[in-house]
Amino acid sequence: MQHLLSVDDMKESFIFDLWSKASDQKDGFSDVLKNKILTNLFYEPSTRTSSSFYSAMVRQGGSVIPINNVKFSSAIKGESLEDTIITMGTMSDCIVLRHPEIGSVDKAAKVSSVPIINAGDGEGEHPTQTLLDGFTIYYNHKKNIDNLRITMVGDLKNGRTVKSLVKLLSRYSGNYFNFVSPKDLRFPQDSIPKKSFETDKIENVIADTDVLYVTRVQTERGSDHEYSLSTEQLNLLPKNSIVMHPLPRVNEIPRDFDNDPRAKYFDQMIYGLWCRMVLLEGIMS
Ligand code: CP
Repeated sequence: MQHLLSVDDMKESFIFDLWSKASDQKDGFSDVLKNKILTNLFYEPSTRTSSSFYSAMVRQGGSVIPINNVKFSSAIKGESLEDTIITMGTMSDCIVLRHPEIGSVDKAAKVSSVPIINAGDGEGEHPTQTLLDGFTIYYNHKKNIDNLRITMVGDLKNGRTVKSLVKLLSRYSGNYFNFVSPKDLRFPQDSIPKKSFETDKIENVIADTDVLYVTRVQTERGSDHEYSLSTEQLNLLPKNSIVMHPLPRVNEIPRDFDNDPRAKYFDQMIYGLWCRMVLLEGIMS
């Protein structure tokens, strides 16, 4: 059984094979997942991840049991995560799980009779977001994800997407990280890559950036900062750089930047669909 709980579960050959197939996926429909059922089990809100998995399943002929609001499931009556996983394993071929606690996906995997895909465990990881984030860089940087200057901005303490993406990009040679955040939202010091620089001022690094990865302040995890980049600051980026954001956006990037050719944050969602189509086919077909 192939669970996908962490970026550590994905070997390089698996990732490049998936990206290579994702490039060919485009808007294709097929029936490779006919007679397969996915459970979307979300204990935290989601627009993109849950809908992207839903669409990836339906586009390949499969079906989805959507439990997007556990308030209307037996979790509200006190059912444990483990019992819910065992239950949904009797009715489906794979479970996509989002949960507010780090490690919840490991608990789920221990009792599950079907593969578990981590769709975000608290401030832990979000490996399928990393698949699509890495693909965005690969696709827009001539199939190259090394020797890049990556600037990550925002709530680097609580944001799970930055942690997973740093894990992935640290595997490749020559990548250098700039971490831009208020002091109390710094990237976890025990995981900080050797080749990195920390600052609270974007102006110190923005002109030396190939990939700008912007994140939202995670108010749901107790952060109370507000920040936004200005168009003037974003225009300091090199012409061939790219701007990414896992979304949802609050006010971090001004809307008047959305049509700039460097803005890739809406494209990321399309890439996510392609990557998840390939992933689900690989796991279930
Ligand atoms: N990027 C992401 O995880 O978005 P959702 O919270 O909408 O799923």
